[in-house]
Amino acid sequence: MSVGDEAAARRDSVLGRLYDVRGLGAVVTGAASGLGRAIAEVLAETGARVTLADADAEGLAKVAEEFAGQGLPVRTYEVDITDRDRARALMDDAVGAYGRLDVVFANAGIGGGPSYARPEGWVDRLPRERWDRVVDVNLNGTYHTLAAAAAVMRPRRHGKIILTASTAGLRADPMVSYAYVAAKAAVVNVARQAALELAPHGIHVNAIAPGPFRTNIGGARGRQPEAQAAWARTIPLGRMADPEEIKGLALLLASPASSFMTGAVYPIDGGALTLAHAL
Ligand SMILES: NC(=O)c1ccc[n+]([C@@H]2O[C@H](COP(=O)([O-])OP(=O)(O)OC[C@H]3O[C@@H](n4cnc5c(N)ncnc54)[C@H](O)[C@@H]3O)[C@@H](O)[C@H]2O)c1
Repeated sequence: MSVGDEAAARRDSVLGRLYDVRGLGAVVTGAASGLGRAIAEVLAETGARVTLADADAEGLAKVAEEFAGQGLPVRTYEVDITDRDRARALMDDAVGAYGRLDVVFANAGIGGGPSYARPEGWVDRLPRERWDRVVDVNLNGTYHTLAAAAAVMRPRRHGKIILTASTAGLRADPMVSYAYVAAKAAVVNVARQAALELAPHGIHVNAIAPGPFRTNIGGARGRQPEAQAAWARTIPLGRMADPEEIKGLALLLASPASSFMTGAVYPIDGGALTLAHAL
């Protein structure tokens, strides 16, 4: 073997060892769209066996069909994560199919509704139903997913759970609602608490804190060019991110490369938090 061949073999072996998720059993919630879809895709692309979970049955079927068309077979499971029993049933279903559960991304979430930039979002006016719904999906649903995953992983003494928080959970954010910043800040601390409890059981828990990505969050309003330009102005890199750009961090946190990482929150935000500290 030439020196060049040896170097290439070593490169492939190091990359293969660090980022090898082949055969792992994975579940991703919110996988019918946006970040969850990209996370599910990178896991399937790199050889994990993935269950795509979402409340949107039609969206799930469409994504699964698109993945299958690219030679990426995945399973789907319809679930509303605000229902604790259904979150448990989701994990049982994945374990039943794979005989193992190694990686769970608790990622499903919804936009928060009006920020205080609009009077209906002022601290004394945010509709009670909006507060309740955002907290129910973004905090309670994330907690249910975490709890259901931990219940399966604890006796097996192995697993990685990744919660999707937000930069809006790490600082004040005038672009989103009180309910959203409250729920996402809580998710960050739930991840830390669960990491403490579960570390002795061999389970890693981390949170990711995305800045603005172009997804379907916020619906039609979020897709308007003015809204996207306003978001871009909050980012030192000067633009919103494409969902593809979550893939590297997702693979890192799912793979052996993150073997000493737990209880942390990882921003992926084009520098937004740095800008916040500079102001
Ligand atoms: N896009 C961003 O800029 C951004 C920034 C920070 C954090 N996040 C977070 O990323 C996560 C994914 O959001 P996204 O931007 O990809 O949005 P998205 O709207 O494109 O995708 C969210 C998915 O979650 C699903 N979902 C919503 N409620 C659910 C429920 N109760 N049960 C099961 N599935 C449900 C939706 O059907 C949808 O498929 C969310 O937690 C969001 O708060 C997004």
